[in-house]
Order: sequence, then C-alpha cells, then structure tokens
Amino acid sequence: MAPAAALFVGLMSGTSLDGVDAVLVDFSGSHPRTLATFWLPYSPEVRNQALQLQATGNDEIRSAAHLSNQLANCYAHAVREVLAAAGTTPEQVAAVGCHGQTIRHQPAAGYTVQLNNPALLSELTGITVVADFRSRDIAAGGQGAPLVPAFHAAVFGDPRQHRVILNVGGIANLTDLKPGSPVRGFDCGPGNLLLDAWIERHQGLRYDEAGNWARQGRVITGLLTRLRADTYFSADPPKSCGRDDFNMPWLESHLAGDEAPADVQATLLELSALAAARAVEQWCGHPDAMFVCGGGARNDALMARLQQLLPGCRVANTDILGQPADWVEAVAFAWLASRTLRGEAGNLPEVTGARGPRVLGAIYPR
Ligand SMILES: Nc1ncnc2c1ncn2[C@@H]1O[C@H](COP(=O)(O)OP(=O)(O)O)[C@@H](O)[C@H]1O
Ligand SMILES: [Mg+2]
Repeated sequence: MAPAAALFVGLMSGTSLDGVDAVLVDFSGSHPRTLATFWLPYSPEVRNQALQLQATGNDEIRSAAHLSNQLANCYAHAVREVLAAAGTTPEQVAAVGCHGQTIRHQPAAGYTVQLNNPALLSELTGITVVADFRSRDIAAGGQGAPLVPAFHAAVFGDPRQHRVILNVGGIANLTDLKPGSPVRGFDCGPGNLLLDAWIERHQGLRYDEAGNWARQGRVITGLLTRLRADTYFSADPPKSCGRDDFNMPWLESHLAGDEAPADVQATLLELSALAAARAVEQWCGHPDAMFVCGGGARNDALMARLQQLLPGCRVANTDILGQPADWVEAVAFAWLASRTLRGEAGNLPEVTGARGPRVLGAIYPR
C-alpha cells in the first residue's frame, strides 16, 4: 500500500457538462499510478441547471447555492465509488482535488466561477478537499487557465521528443513541450461543446459517436470562414475561453438558416480541428508528436482530420503514454491538490500570464 501522503482523488467536471470523472491516484512512484476510475454522468436535472446558470437569470444566488450542494453530492458519490473500486478507505487518502463546475469564466473581468460546496464535500467524504484552483491565478493577473500544462510537462515531457498535448474537452487546450524551451499552453477554442449542442438539437443525442454524423456532411466554406473570423482564434496567448465565448447563440449568429444540419456538424468538426492545428503551427513550430486526451480523443473523425492537417507530426492519444485519454484531466487535479498540500505552486506564469507562481486553491481540512 502506498504511503498515506501519496494517495489523492481527482475530480474533474468539465465544460462538456457530461458528468464527473473520478480517479484515485498514487503519486509515490516516478509516474502517477491510477488505482481506480469512476465516471458519474450528470442527471438531466443537474445538467440543465448548470446550463441555465451559464447566462444571467433570476435568483441566481439561490440557484447557484442549490446547484453547488447537488454537485457536492455528485462529487461525494463519485469519491465513494472510486474508493470502493480500489478497496481504499477515506483515512488512506491525503486529499480530494475537485475542479468544480464552471458556470462563468471571465478572466478579463477578474473572476471565474466553479460551483461546488467543498465544505459539504469534506463533510460527506471525511477527506480533506482542495477546491477553487483557478481564482488565485486570476487574482495574480493570469487567465486562471489552462492549469493542466504543469502536469502535462511533469508527466509527458520527454527530452528527446518535441511533444504537444491536446486536451479536447468542451473547450480544447494545448500544451507545448519542446525540449529546452519553457512550457507553453493556452485554450485554442471550442473542442466538443458546439458539436455536442448541435447533435443534441437535431438528433437528441448527447454527442456524435466517433464523429460519424459529421463525416456524413460537407464543410460549408462560407460558414467556416465566418466562424474562423472570431477574434479569439487570432489573439495571442495567454488566452482562455469557455461557454461564455463559444455557445449556441454564437453559432446561430453566424448561420444563414438554410444549412443542412449534417453540413453544419461537419463544419463544426472542421472548426475544432483547425483551431487546434493552426494553433500548433503558429505557436509550437514543428512538433514530432501530438498526444490527444479528453473525450475528443474518442472522436475518430476529429483525430483523422488532425492528422491530415498536421502531416509532419504523429497524432495519437495519450493511452500509449500510459495515461488513458479519458482520465488525464482528473489525474491532473489530483496532482494539483498534492502540490497545494505541499505548499508548491500549480500554475505556470508563462502559460497563464500570472505575475508569478502561486499555490492554487483553498484547503478544506477533513
Ligand atoms: N466515442 C466518442 N465519440 C465522439 N465524441 C466523444 C466520444 N466520447 C466522448 N466524446 C466527447 O467527449 C466529451 C466529454 O469530454 P470530456 O473530456 O469529459 O470534456 P469536459 O472536460 O469538458 O467534460 C463528450 O461530451 C463528447 O463530446
Ligand atoms: Mg467531462
């Protein structure tokens, strides 16, 4: 059994609003070892409440508090399951690192909001909780995102290979790991969230399995050009984005209205692929390999298109590096929690634009 100080739970609930990824990780070795995983899908009720809170509405303080408590219950459920799967007790776990559910991300205005009730989560689990990782970086002048590049560097960095790590969640972010150069990283734009929203509207499905529906459509060049003209894509890093920037009203504002739905899906897939590939070309030079994680790594059409757009770069998912693509972000938040407990910084100022390294998050002792 690992020493008590080495076991952490990571909980990631991203902008896709698909649910909670939970991992139990042992950090006692040279590389993180994932002992158990558990995925808890959100109920339609929780998902709809979170979607509603993405925009200004009535009685938001009550709604946010109510949803925070429901989320804490989801998180506690996921913790119980992942511990049970590994036969581990709460006493053996040093801390839970919990991202929370983003409902606003406005770094330029000085705030980001990840709903959670970490005090309740600590009560429900009997484990120390580290939460609210992003605020401190924003307080120090940073974007508060992405926070995973430090973890990517620690786990995926290779002195002999120029690697890019692309995390395709609701939003996509990339990390440039060039040997001998500082780590770079930023959000490159929409990942899955527009693809998900469009197929949900037209087919009632939560996502486009393997990108098969997108494959049936044809890219609408005019629409793609209008979408690509959004200033986010041409802005220099540091930069980060969220549902605040890319959402259905944003897409609708660019539609003529007579497009075939499958063609729009094909165009959205092309938009996500181009956002990542052009960002790699512009900011990362000529990497040897790009390793993809997040749910988007399961979108075969997207993966194939990324490989076409980056012919000189091997595109694969992180599974082959020993970190299964679906769990990388949750492991990263377990790792960030371990940094916080040790009093070590979790952000990379060169990535987020913060004034300096900062110990991230708040600790809610067991
Ligand atoms: N088999 C698949 N085919 C296509 N897309 C998938 C598949 N599995 C997952 N996804 C996509 O991944 C998303 C979830 O990715 P995730 O990494 O959890 O994002 P987030 O961190 O934003 O929650 C789903 O909403 C879906 O769009
Ligand atoms: Mg998710």
